[in-house]
Order: sequence, then structure tokens, then C-alpha cells
Amino acid sequence: MITSTIRRRKIESFQLEDDPLWYKDALIYELHVRAFYDSDADGGGDFRGLYEKLPYLQDLGITALWLLPFYPSPLRDDGYDIADYTSVNPIFGTLPDAATFIKEAHRRGIRVITELVANHTSDQHPWFQRARRAKPGSSLRNFYVWSETNQRYQDARIIFKDFETSNWTWDHVANAYYWHRFYSHQPDLNFDNPKVREALFKNLDFWLEMGVDGVRLDAVPYLVEREGTNCENLPETHAFLRELRKHIDESFKNRMLLAEANQWPEDAVAYFGAGDECHMNFHFPLMPRLFMSIRMEDRFPIVDILAQTPPIPDVAQWALFLRNHDELTLEMVTDEERDYMYRAYTQDRLARLNLGIRRRLAPLLGNDRRRIELMNGLLFSLPGTPVLYYGDEIGMGDNIFLGDRNGVRTPMQWSADRNAGFSRANSQRLYLPVITDPEYHYETVNVEAQQGNPHSILSWTKRLVALRKRHRAFGRGTLELLRPENRKVLAYVRAYESEQILCIANLSRFLQAVELDLSKWKGLVPVELFSGNEMPAIGDAPSSRWGHTPSTGSRCSRARCPCCRPTAPAHRPACPRSGSPAAGSRLSSAARRSAWRTSCSATSASAGGSPARPAG
Ligand code: NOJ
Repeated sequence: MITSTIRRRKIESFQLEDDPLWYKDALIYELHVRAFYDSDADGGGDFRGLYEKLPYLQDLGITALWLLPFYPSPLRDDGYDIADYTSVNPIFGTLPDAATFIKEAHRRGIRVITELVANHTSDQHPWFQRARRAKPGSSLRNFYVWSETNQRYQDARIIFKDFETSNWTWDHVANAYYWHRFYSHQPDLNFDNPKVREALFKNLDFWLEMGVDGVRLDAVPYLVEREGTNCENLPETHAFLRELRKHIDESFKNRMLLAEANQWPEDAVAYFGAGDECHMNFHFPLMPRLFMSIRMEDRFPIVDILAQTPPIPDVAQWALFLRNHDELTLEMVTDEERDYMYRAYTQDRLARLNLGIRRRLAPLLGNDRRRIELMNGLLFSLPGTPVLYYGDEIGMGDNIFLGDRNGVRTPMQWSADRNAGFSRANSQRLYLPVITDPEYHYETVNVEAQQGNPHSILSWTKRLVALRKRHRAFGRGTLELLRPENRKVLAYVRAYESEQILCIANLSRFLQAVELDLSKWKGLVPVELFSGNEMPAIGDAPSSRWGHTPSTGSRCSRARCPCCRPTAPAHRPACPRSGSPAAGSRLSSAARRSAWRTSCSATSASAGGSPARPAG
């Protein structure tokens, strides 16, 4: 049915660029098919619904979609408990629906990233049902990790610590314990069994052949277990990833592996290997430090974690994010930093879950537009590829009274209509209730309302997305941190080929004065990226003062993004508003002065106390 609609319509077709490094310039948007749009009024989203909303995503400007698991599943972990890797859960549609969706996404210039949950399956997967009945020691039995005692691998931490007390569960059919790093209904696959690896390769090929452009490797540090270790990041896991990468490179073009390795930087970079393991990995340690920095009004947490992040291979790329479908994880912070984050961001204890905080971006930032813009400015300008979580582009709220992580997985808010325009079902039938909290009620926070307002957060996000796409330095450039004395200001230069982009973030609530040493860029004329306005040229003096007026006027909000570009006139970008080259050549022989003035702003509410702030 969908196919015939496609044939009838005549829409311009976009070619996906033939570029093996496409993920470096990508803007990834994460969503659950279930949460986006319900085409058949059964109360949950589906592939046909997502297909219908592709124009919205194309208009937003994102270039890749990351789909959470949509495979057959008992849905006890929202689909991360897979019961069949090569099919579609009937509540989301059919395989042809998925295939049609992928084709149409490609036609609109959007790549598709899916999930390979390799670490574990659902206990309902036929592999587990077969294994628990198979002869002990047999290959079928050894698809999973069995033991007669629950005392093995005691150094492995428990990840879902609010729900599980052990990584072993007794199976009365097998008469043995089985190993699981997550819920007890998610037995871990046994990567020491070559048949397991072979079966997973086959499943992956199935989706890659259908056109999937990338896969997120869920829970990848935990694939292998060894006694006397914490069972994370083991050499055998990396050997498997090299095998997987080789397999993909040999059979497919322009595909990408994205690791979910929630680890400290030195362990996280190992997932890139020597450019022969994963192409991308999430920067988990950076994410909470962005939140710490704006709360502490101090750049130290960000600068410190960037300094701890080793260089990565040329073909590798960090995936940066502020929020996702899980709790804001606080595993990669110190105990003291975690206490601080809890104090600063969870006034209500219910917001805490496992080792994290189950809130969306807007509520975390007190629904403060300026702080939301600042955080997104950092997300879009620090080295890596930004990953946006659905709904955050309209400042959606959450519901901490729903269980587990469901509060950040509620239906997308399309309009002020019944069920937020997400579904025509009886409201009681929705897979989760829509947000009706007075501050974030779907009647006001929705796509339709914001599309009509050029000043809405949605419109602002679109401009930010468009701006980032115009400058490759954001995705591919080097990073040079400036170190002004005022630590409330974070400043850095991203450079790629002829582009040099200066990013300045005022992490404080208040006006700040700052001196930036820009002597290295003497003679260049900065052009403010949002407005296209030229700043005074950079001259001879060693430094200059920069002041910021925390006005709420529109000019200031345009300038609030921390992006500004010192560039020779010949390389000036097109003016984002007029589409014409910014300014004229009259400034080409730039006045030699010490630095330029520019402005950006950020706000931050003070928290009660902060963790120790080392000097520097
Ligand atoms: C990581 C996923 O992000 C999370 O949602 C899931 O519960 C665990 N892996 C287990 O699959």
C-alpha cells in the first residue's frame, strides 16, 4: 500500500553521498518506532506512522535516524529483549513496511541505523528455549553461559541495581544458573561459541542487505566473561569486534558500527581499535560533565574530561548526546561527582534510577530556554556527531511517575489534538500516557504549535541543524581549547581545511568579561555564524575584552549560540538569513587589532554546593 503511494507521488529524490565517512558529518535523531506516530489507531507507533512523518524529519534537517529495537519481543525491556532478530514485531508492522520505510528514508537523504543487541536475547528467544533443554556441554546448550554455581565472575558489577541482585539466575528447566548482565529475563549469549558469532553475523547481514546503514552495538563491553576480571572490555571482545568489522567491510559499502560502550575514556577509545573495530562510540563520560559544568558555572569538568580523552583514529568519531531513552547515566563519574549531580538535578528522589537520573532535557534544565540552547550549542560544536533524542527538539517534558525509564519514552507530541495527535486510539489504549504536566502539557508543547512560530525551540533547533550542516569543521575539525582566565567561559576553535570556527560558551547565569588570546589568528575577520555579521578584525594586541549582555532580545538569542568563525574574507560562509555571502570584500584588508568582540550567552542556576574544583 505504501509502495503505491510512493509511485504516485513525485518528490525530488536525494542521493545519499557515496562517502565511507558519512557518519562524521551526520546529525543523528534517535527514536522508538513505538513512540513516534500511530498510523492504525492501536495505541502504539508503527513503521507506517514513521513513514508518514519522514517529511517532518527531513524538514528538521537530520541526516540519520537511529531506531530503537523493533523486533519481536515480549517488550519487558522495551524491545532490548529480542525474541527474533530478523523480523518485525507485528505491533510495529511487517518486514515489507520496514523495507519500504528504509527506501523512503534513503530517498529523502536520511540514513537508517538499527540495533544489534548481541550481548543477550530474551529468554523467549528460540535459542534460549532450545539451550535450556539441550544436553549440557552441547553447542546448542552453550549458546548461553551456564554454571552450577552462582559464585563465578563475582567481580562483575550489577548494572540494573534497582532491579537485580545477582548476574546469575537459576533455570529450573536446565537445572543450572545462567548469566545475565541486565534483567534476569535477558540471558547473555556465549561469545566463546563460534556458532553464536556465526548466527549473529547472519542476522546482521539480513538487515544490511535490506539497506540499513549502521548498527548500534548494544552493551558491547560485556560480551565475554573471564574469571578474575570485571568481565568488561576484555581482549576477546575486541577480537570479536575486529572480526565483525572485517566481515562488514568485505561485504558492504559505507556501513557504520556504533558502540554503546559506557566506559572511561581510555577504555572507550579501545572500541575504535586501530580504526579496525567500531567507527563510532558514544562519549559517555562527557555527557554528565556538560550538565555539571553549566550547574557549577565552571568549564573545568568539560575541559578535564576532554584532556583525559586520548586521540582517536582518523576514521573514528565520537557520538555526542545530552539525553537518550535511558536514564542519564552517572556510571562514568566519581562518587563525589555523582552526589553532586543527584543534589543538583534530582530534587525529587523518584527521578533517580539505577545509577542515573530518568529525566528529559527540558525538565533537567528547568525548562530554561537559554540553558537548553547553550547545551545544544555545546552538543553541536564539540568534537563528534550529535545525537538528538526525539521530542527534545520541542522541549518535551517527562513523567517520573511511570515505571523504569518509561517517563522519557512517552508519545511524540504532534499537536494539541487528542493524544497529542500521536494516535486516534482511545486514550486509555496508548502504550504510555501523553505528557499532561501543566508546564509541558502537549496542548502547548507540540510540533504544530512550534512550527508556526519562528522563535520556537523547534525553529531554533532547525536553524542550529542547518548551521552545523554548512560547516564541516564541526564534524571533522580539530579542537583547540583556549584557556581564558575566567573559568566561567569555555572557548575553543574547531578547524578543518580552510575553516576555523571559534566557539565561546558563557557557562554562567550572568554577564562575564573574558580575555581571549587570539593572536594566532591575527588579521582574520570573524563572522558570527547565526547572523552572518562581521566582527572587528583580529589585531596585534595580546588580548581583548569581551563582554556579554544577558538580554532576552532576539539579537542576543541569535548570538547566544557559542559559534563564531574567524575566517579570511575569501572563506566566509553564506549569510544564513539572506543566502548571500556575508558582508563585502571591503574588510578584506583587515584592520590589525588584538582580537574581536563577539557574544554568546548561557545561563545556569546555582546548585547547593559543588564538588571539589581543582585549579586550572
Ligand atoms: C542498553 C540500552 O540502552 C538499554 O535501554 C537496555 O535496557 C540495555 N542496554 C539492555 O539491553
